[in-house]
Amino acid sequence: MVLGTGGTIAGLATSAADSRDYLAAQKPVAELMTGLAAPSGFALLSEQVAQIDSKDMDLAVWRKLLQRCVHWLAQADVQGLVITHGTDTLEETAFLLQTVLAPRKPVVLTCAMRPANAADADGPQNLRDALAVAATAGAQGVLAVCAGRILGALDVQKVHSSRLDAFSAGEAGDIGRVQQGRVERQRDWPQPRVPQEMLLEVLLTAPALPRVEIVLSHAAACGATVDALVDPAVATRYGAPPVRGLVLAGTGGGTVHHELEAALRRAQAAGVRVLRSTRCADGFLQPRPNEEFPVAAGLSPVKARLALMLELLR
Ligand code: SIN
Repeated sequence: MVLGTGGTIAGLATSAADSRDYLAAQKPVAELMTGLAAPSGFALLSEQVAQIDSKDMDLAVWRKLLQRCVHWLAQADVQGLVITHGTDTLEETAFLLQTVLAPRKPVVLTCAMRPANAADADGPQNLRDALAVAATAGAQGVLAVCAGRILGALDVQKVHSSRLDAFSAGEAGDIGRVQQGRVERQRDWPQPRVPQEMLLEVLLTAPALPRVEIVLSHAAACGATVDALVDPAVATRYGAPPVRGLVLAGTGGGTVHHELEAALRRAQAAGVRVLRSTRCADGFLQPRPNEEFPVAAGLSPVKARLALMLELLR
């Protein structure tokens, strides 16, 4: 089952010769599959879940996607799912699906860096590769497939703004690769954990996600940014919910400018949860005993933010 959500893979350029000027999320998923052969022994179906540029991903689309994944994964004759998605927030959707569903079947997100009508479009090959992974016996968990690489949901991160090979799994490494339709695995598939049924229920019914913001530490930082974020009067003025959590995208090993540190301390004292991550693309933060701001171990700032939102929902 191929679920379409939009992205550049469904994008259309004004001219096939210049793929830089295009609109994402234009072509229906059924059309993306025209001419694609189903993996041997399987039938291919598709469903349009959303049609968005993934920079605009929101709770409503995530809910619909979760519901359709739950529905299709429960069908005994469904071997696996492929989700066509924009590259920009693919890692967030992948993390959410793996954390909440922890599926025993493969759920493979794929994408493209060039629009569907570009002369050198990369979407069709990515989609073929994703189908090959989804059809692989024993494959499981939420995966991303792009440029011939298979990456795990917890590790995948977009690291390049324009290269076709735009993703990395950092130090965790790729799960494998797809070459000429053959899946070669280097690491274990993501392990199925206990599906978070209660969390799914809350996610599907909560009026909104708890508000968690990311604060970047940098040279000459100013603590007033954090004070303004957690000031309930500011939230009220903008009709926004109060901030319940802050994720620090710290420097290097998760360190923080002293001005921000003082402001984060004030926020924490006022009941706001603070999690520490690093703005570095690679490397794991190690939790240390008695640390003031707990570490989001192994998670990038955007994934740490989602993890904290889900924890607050629980
Ligand atoms: C998007 O994320 O929807 C647009 C960009 C892309 O898919 O590469």
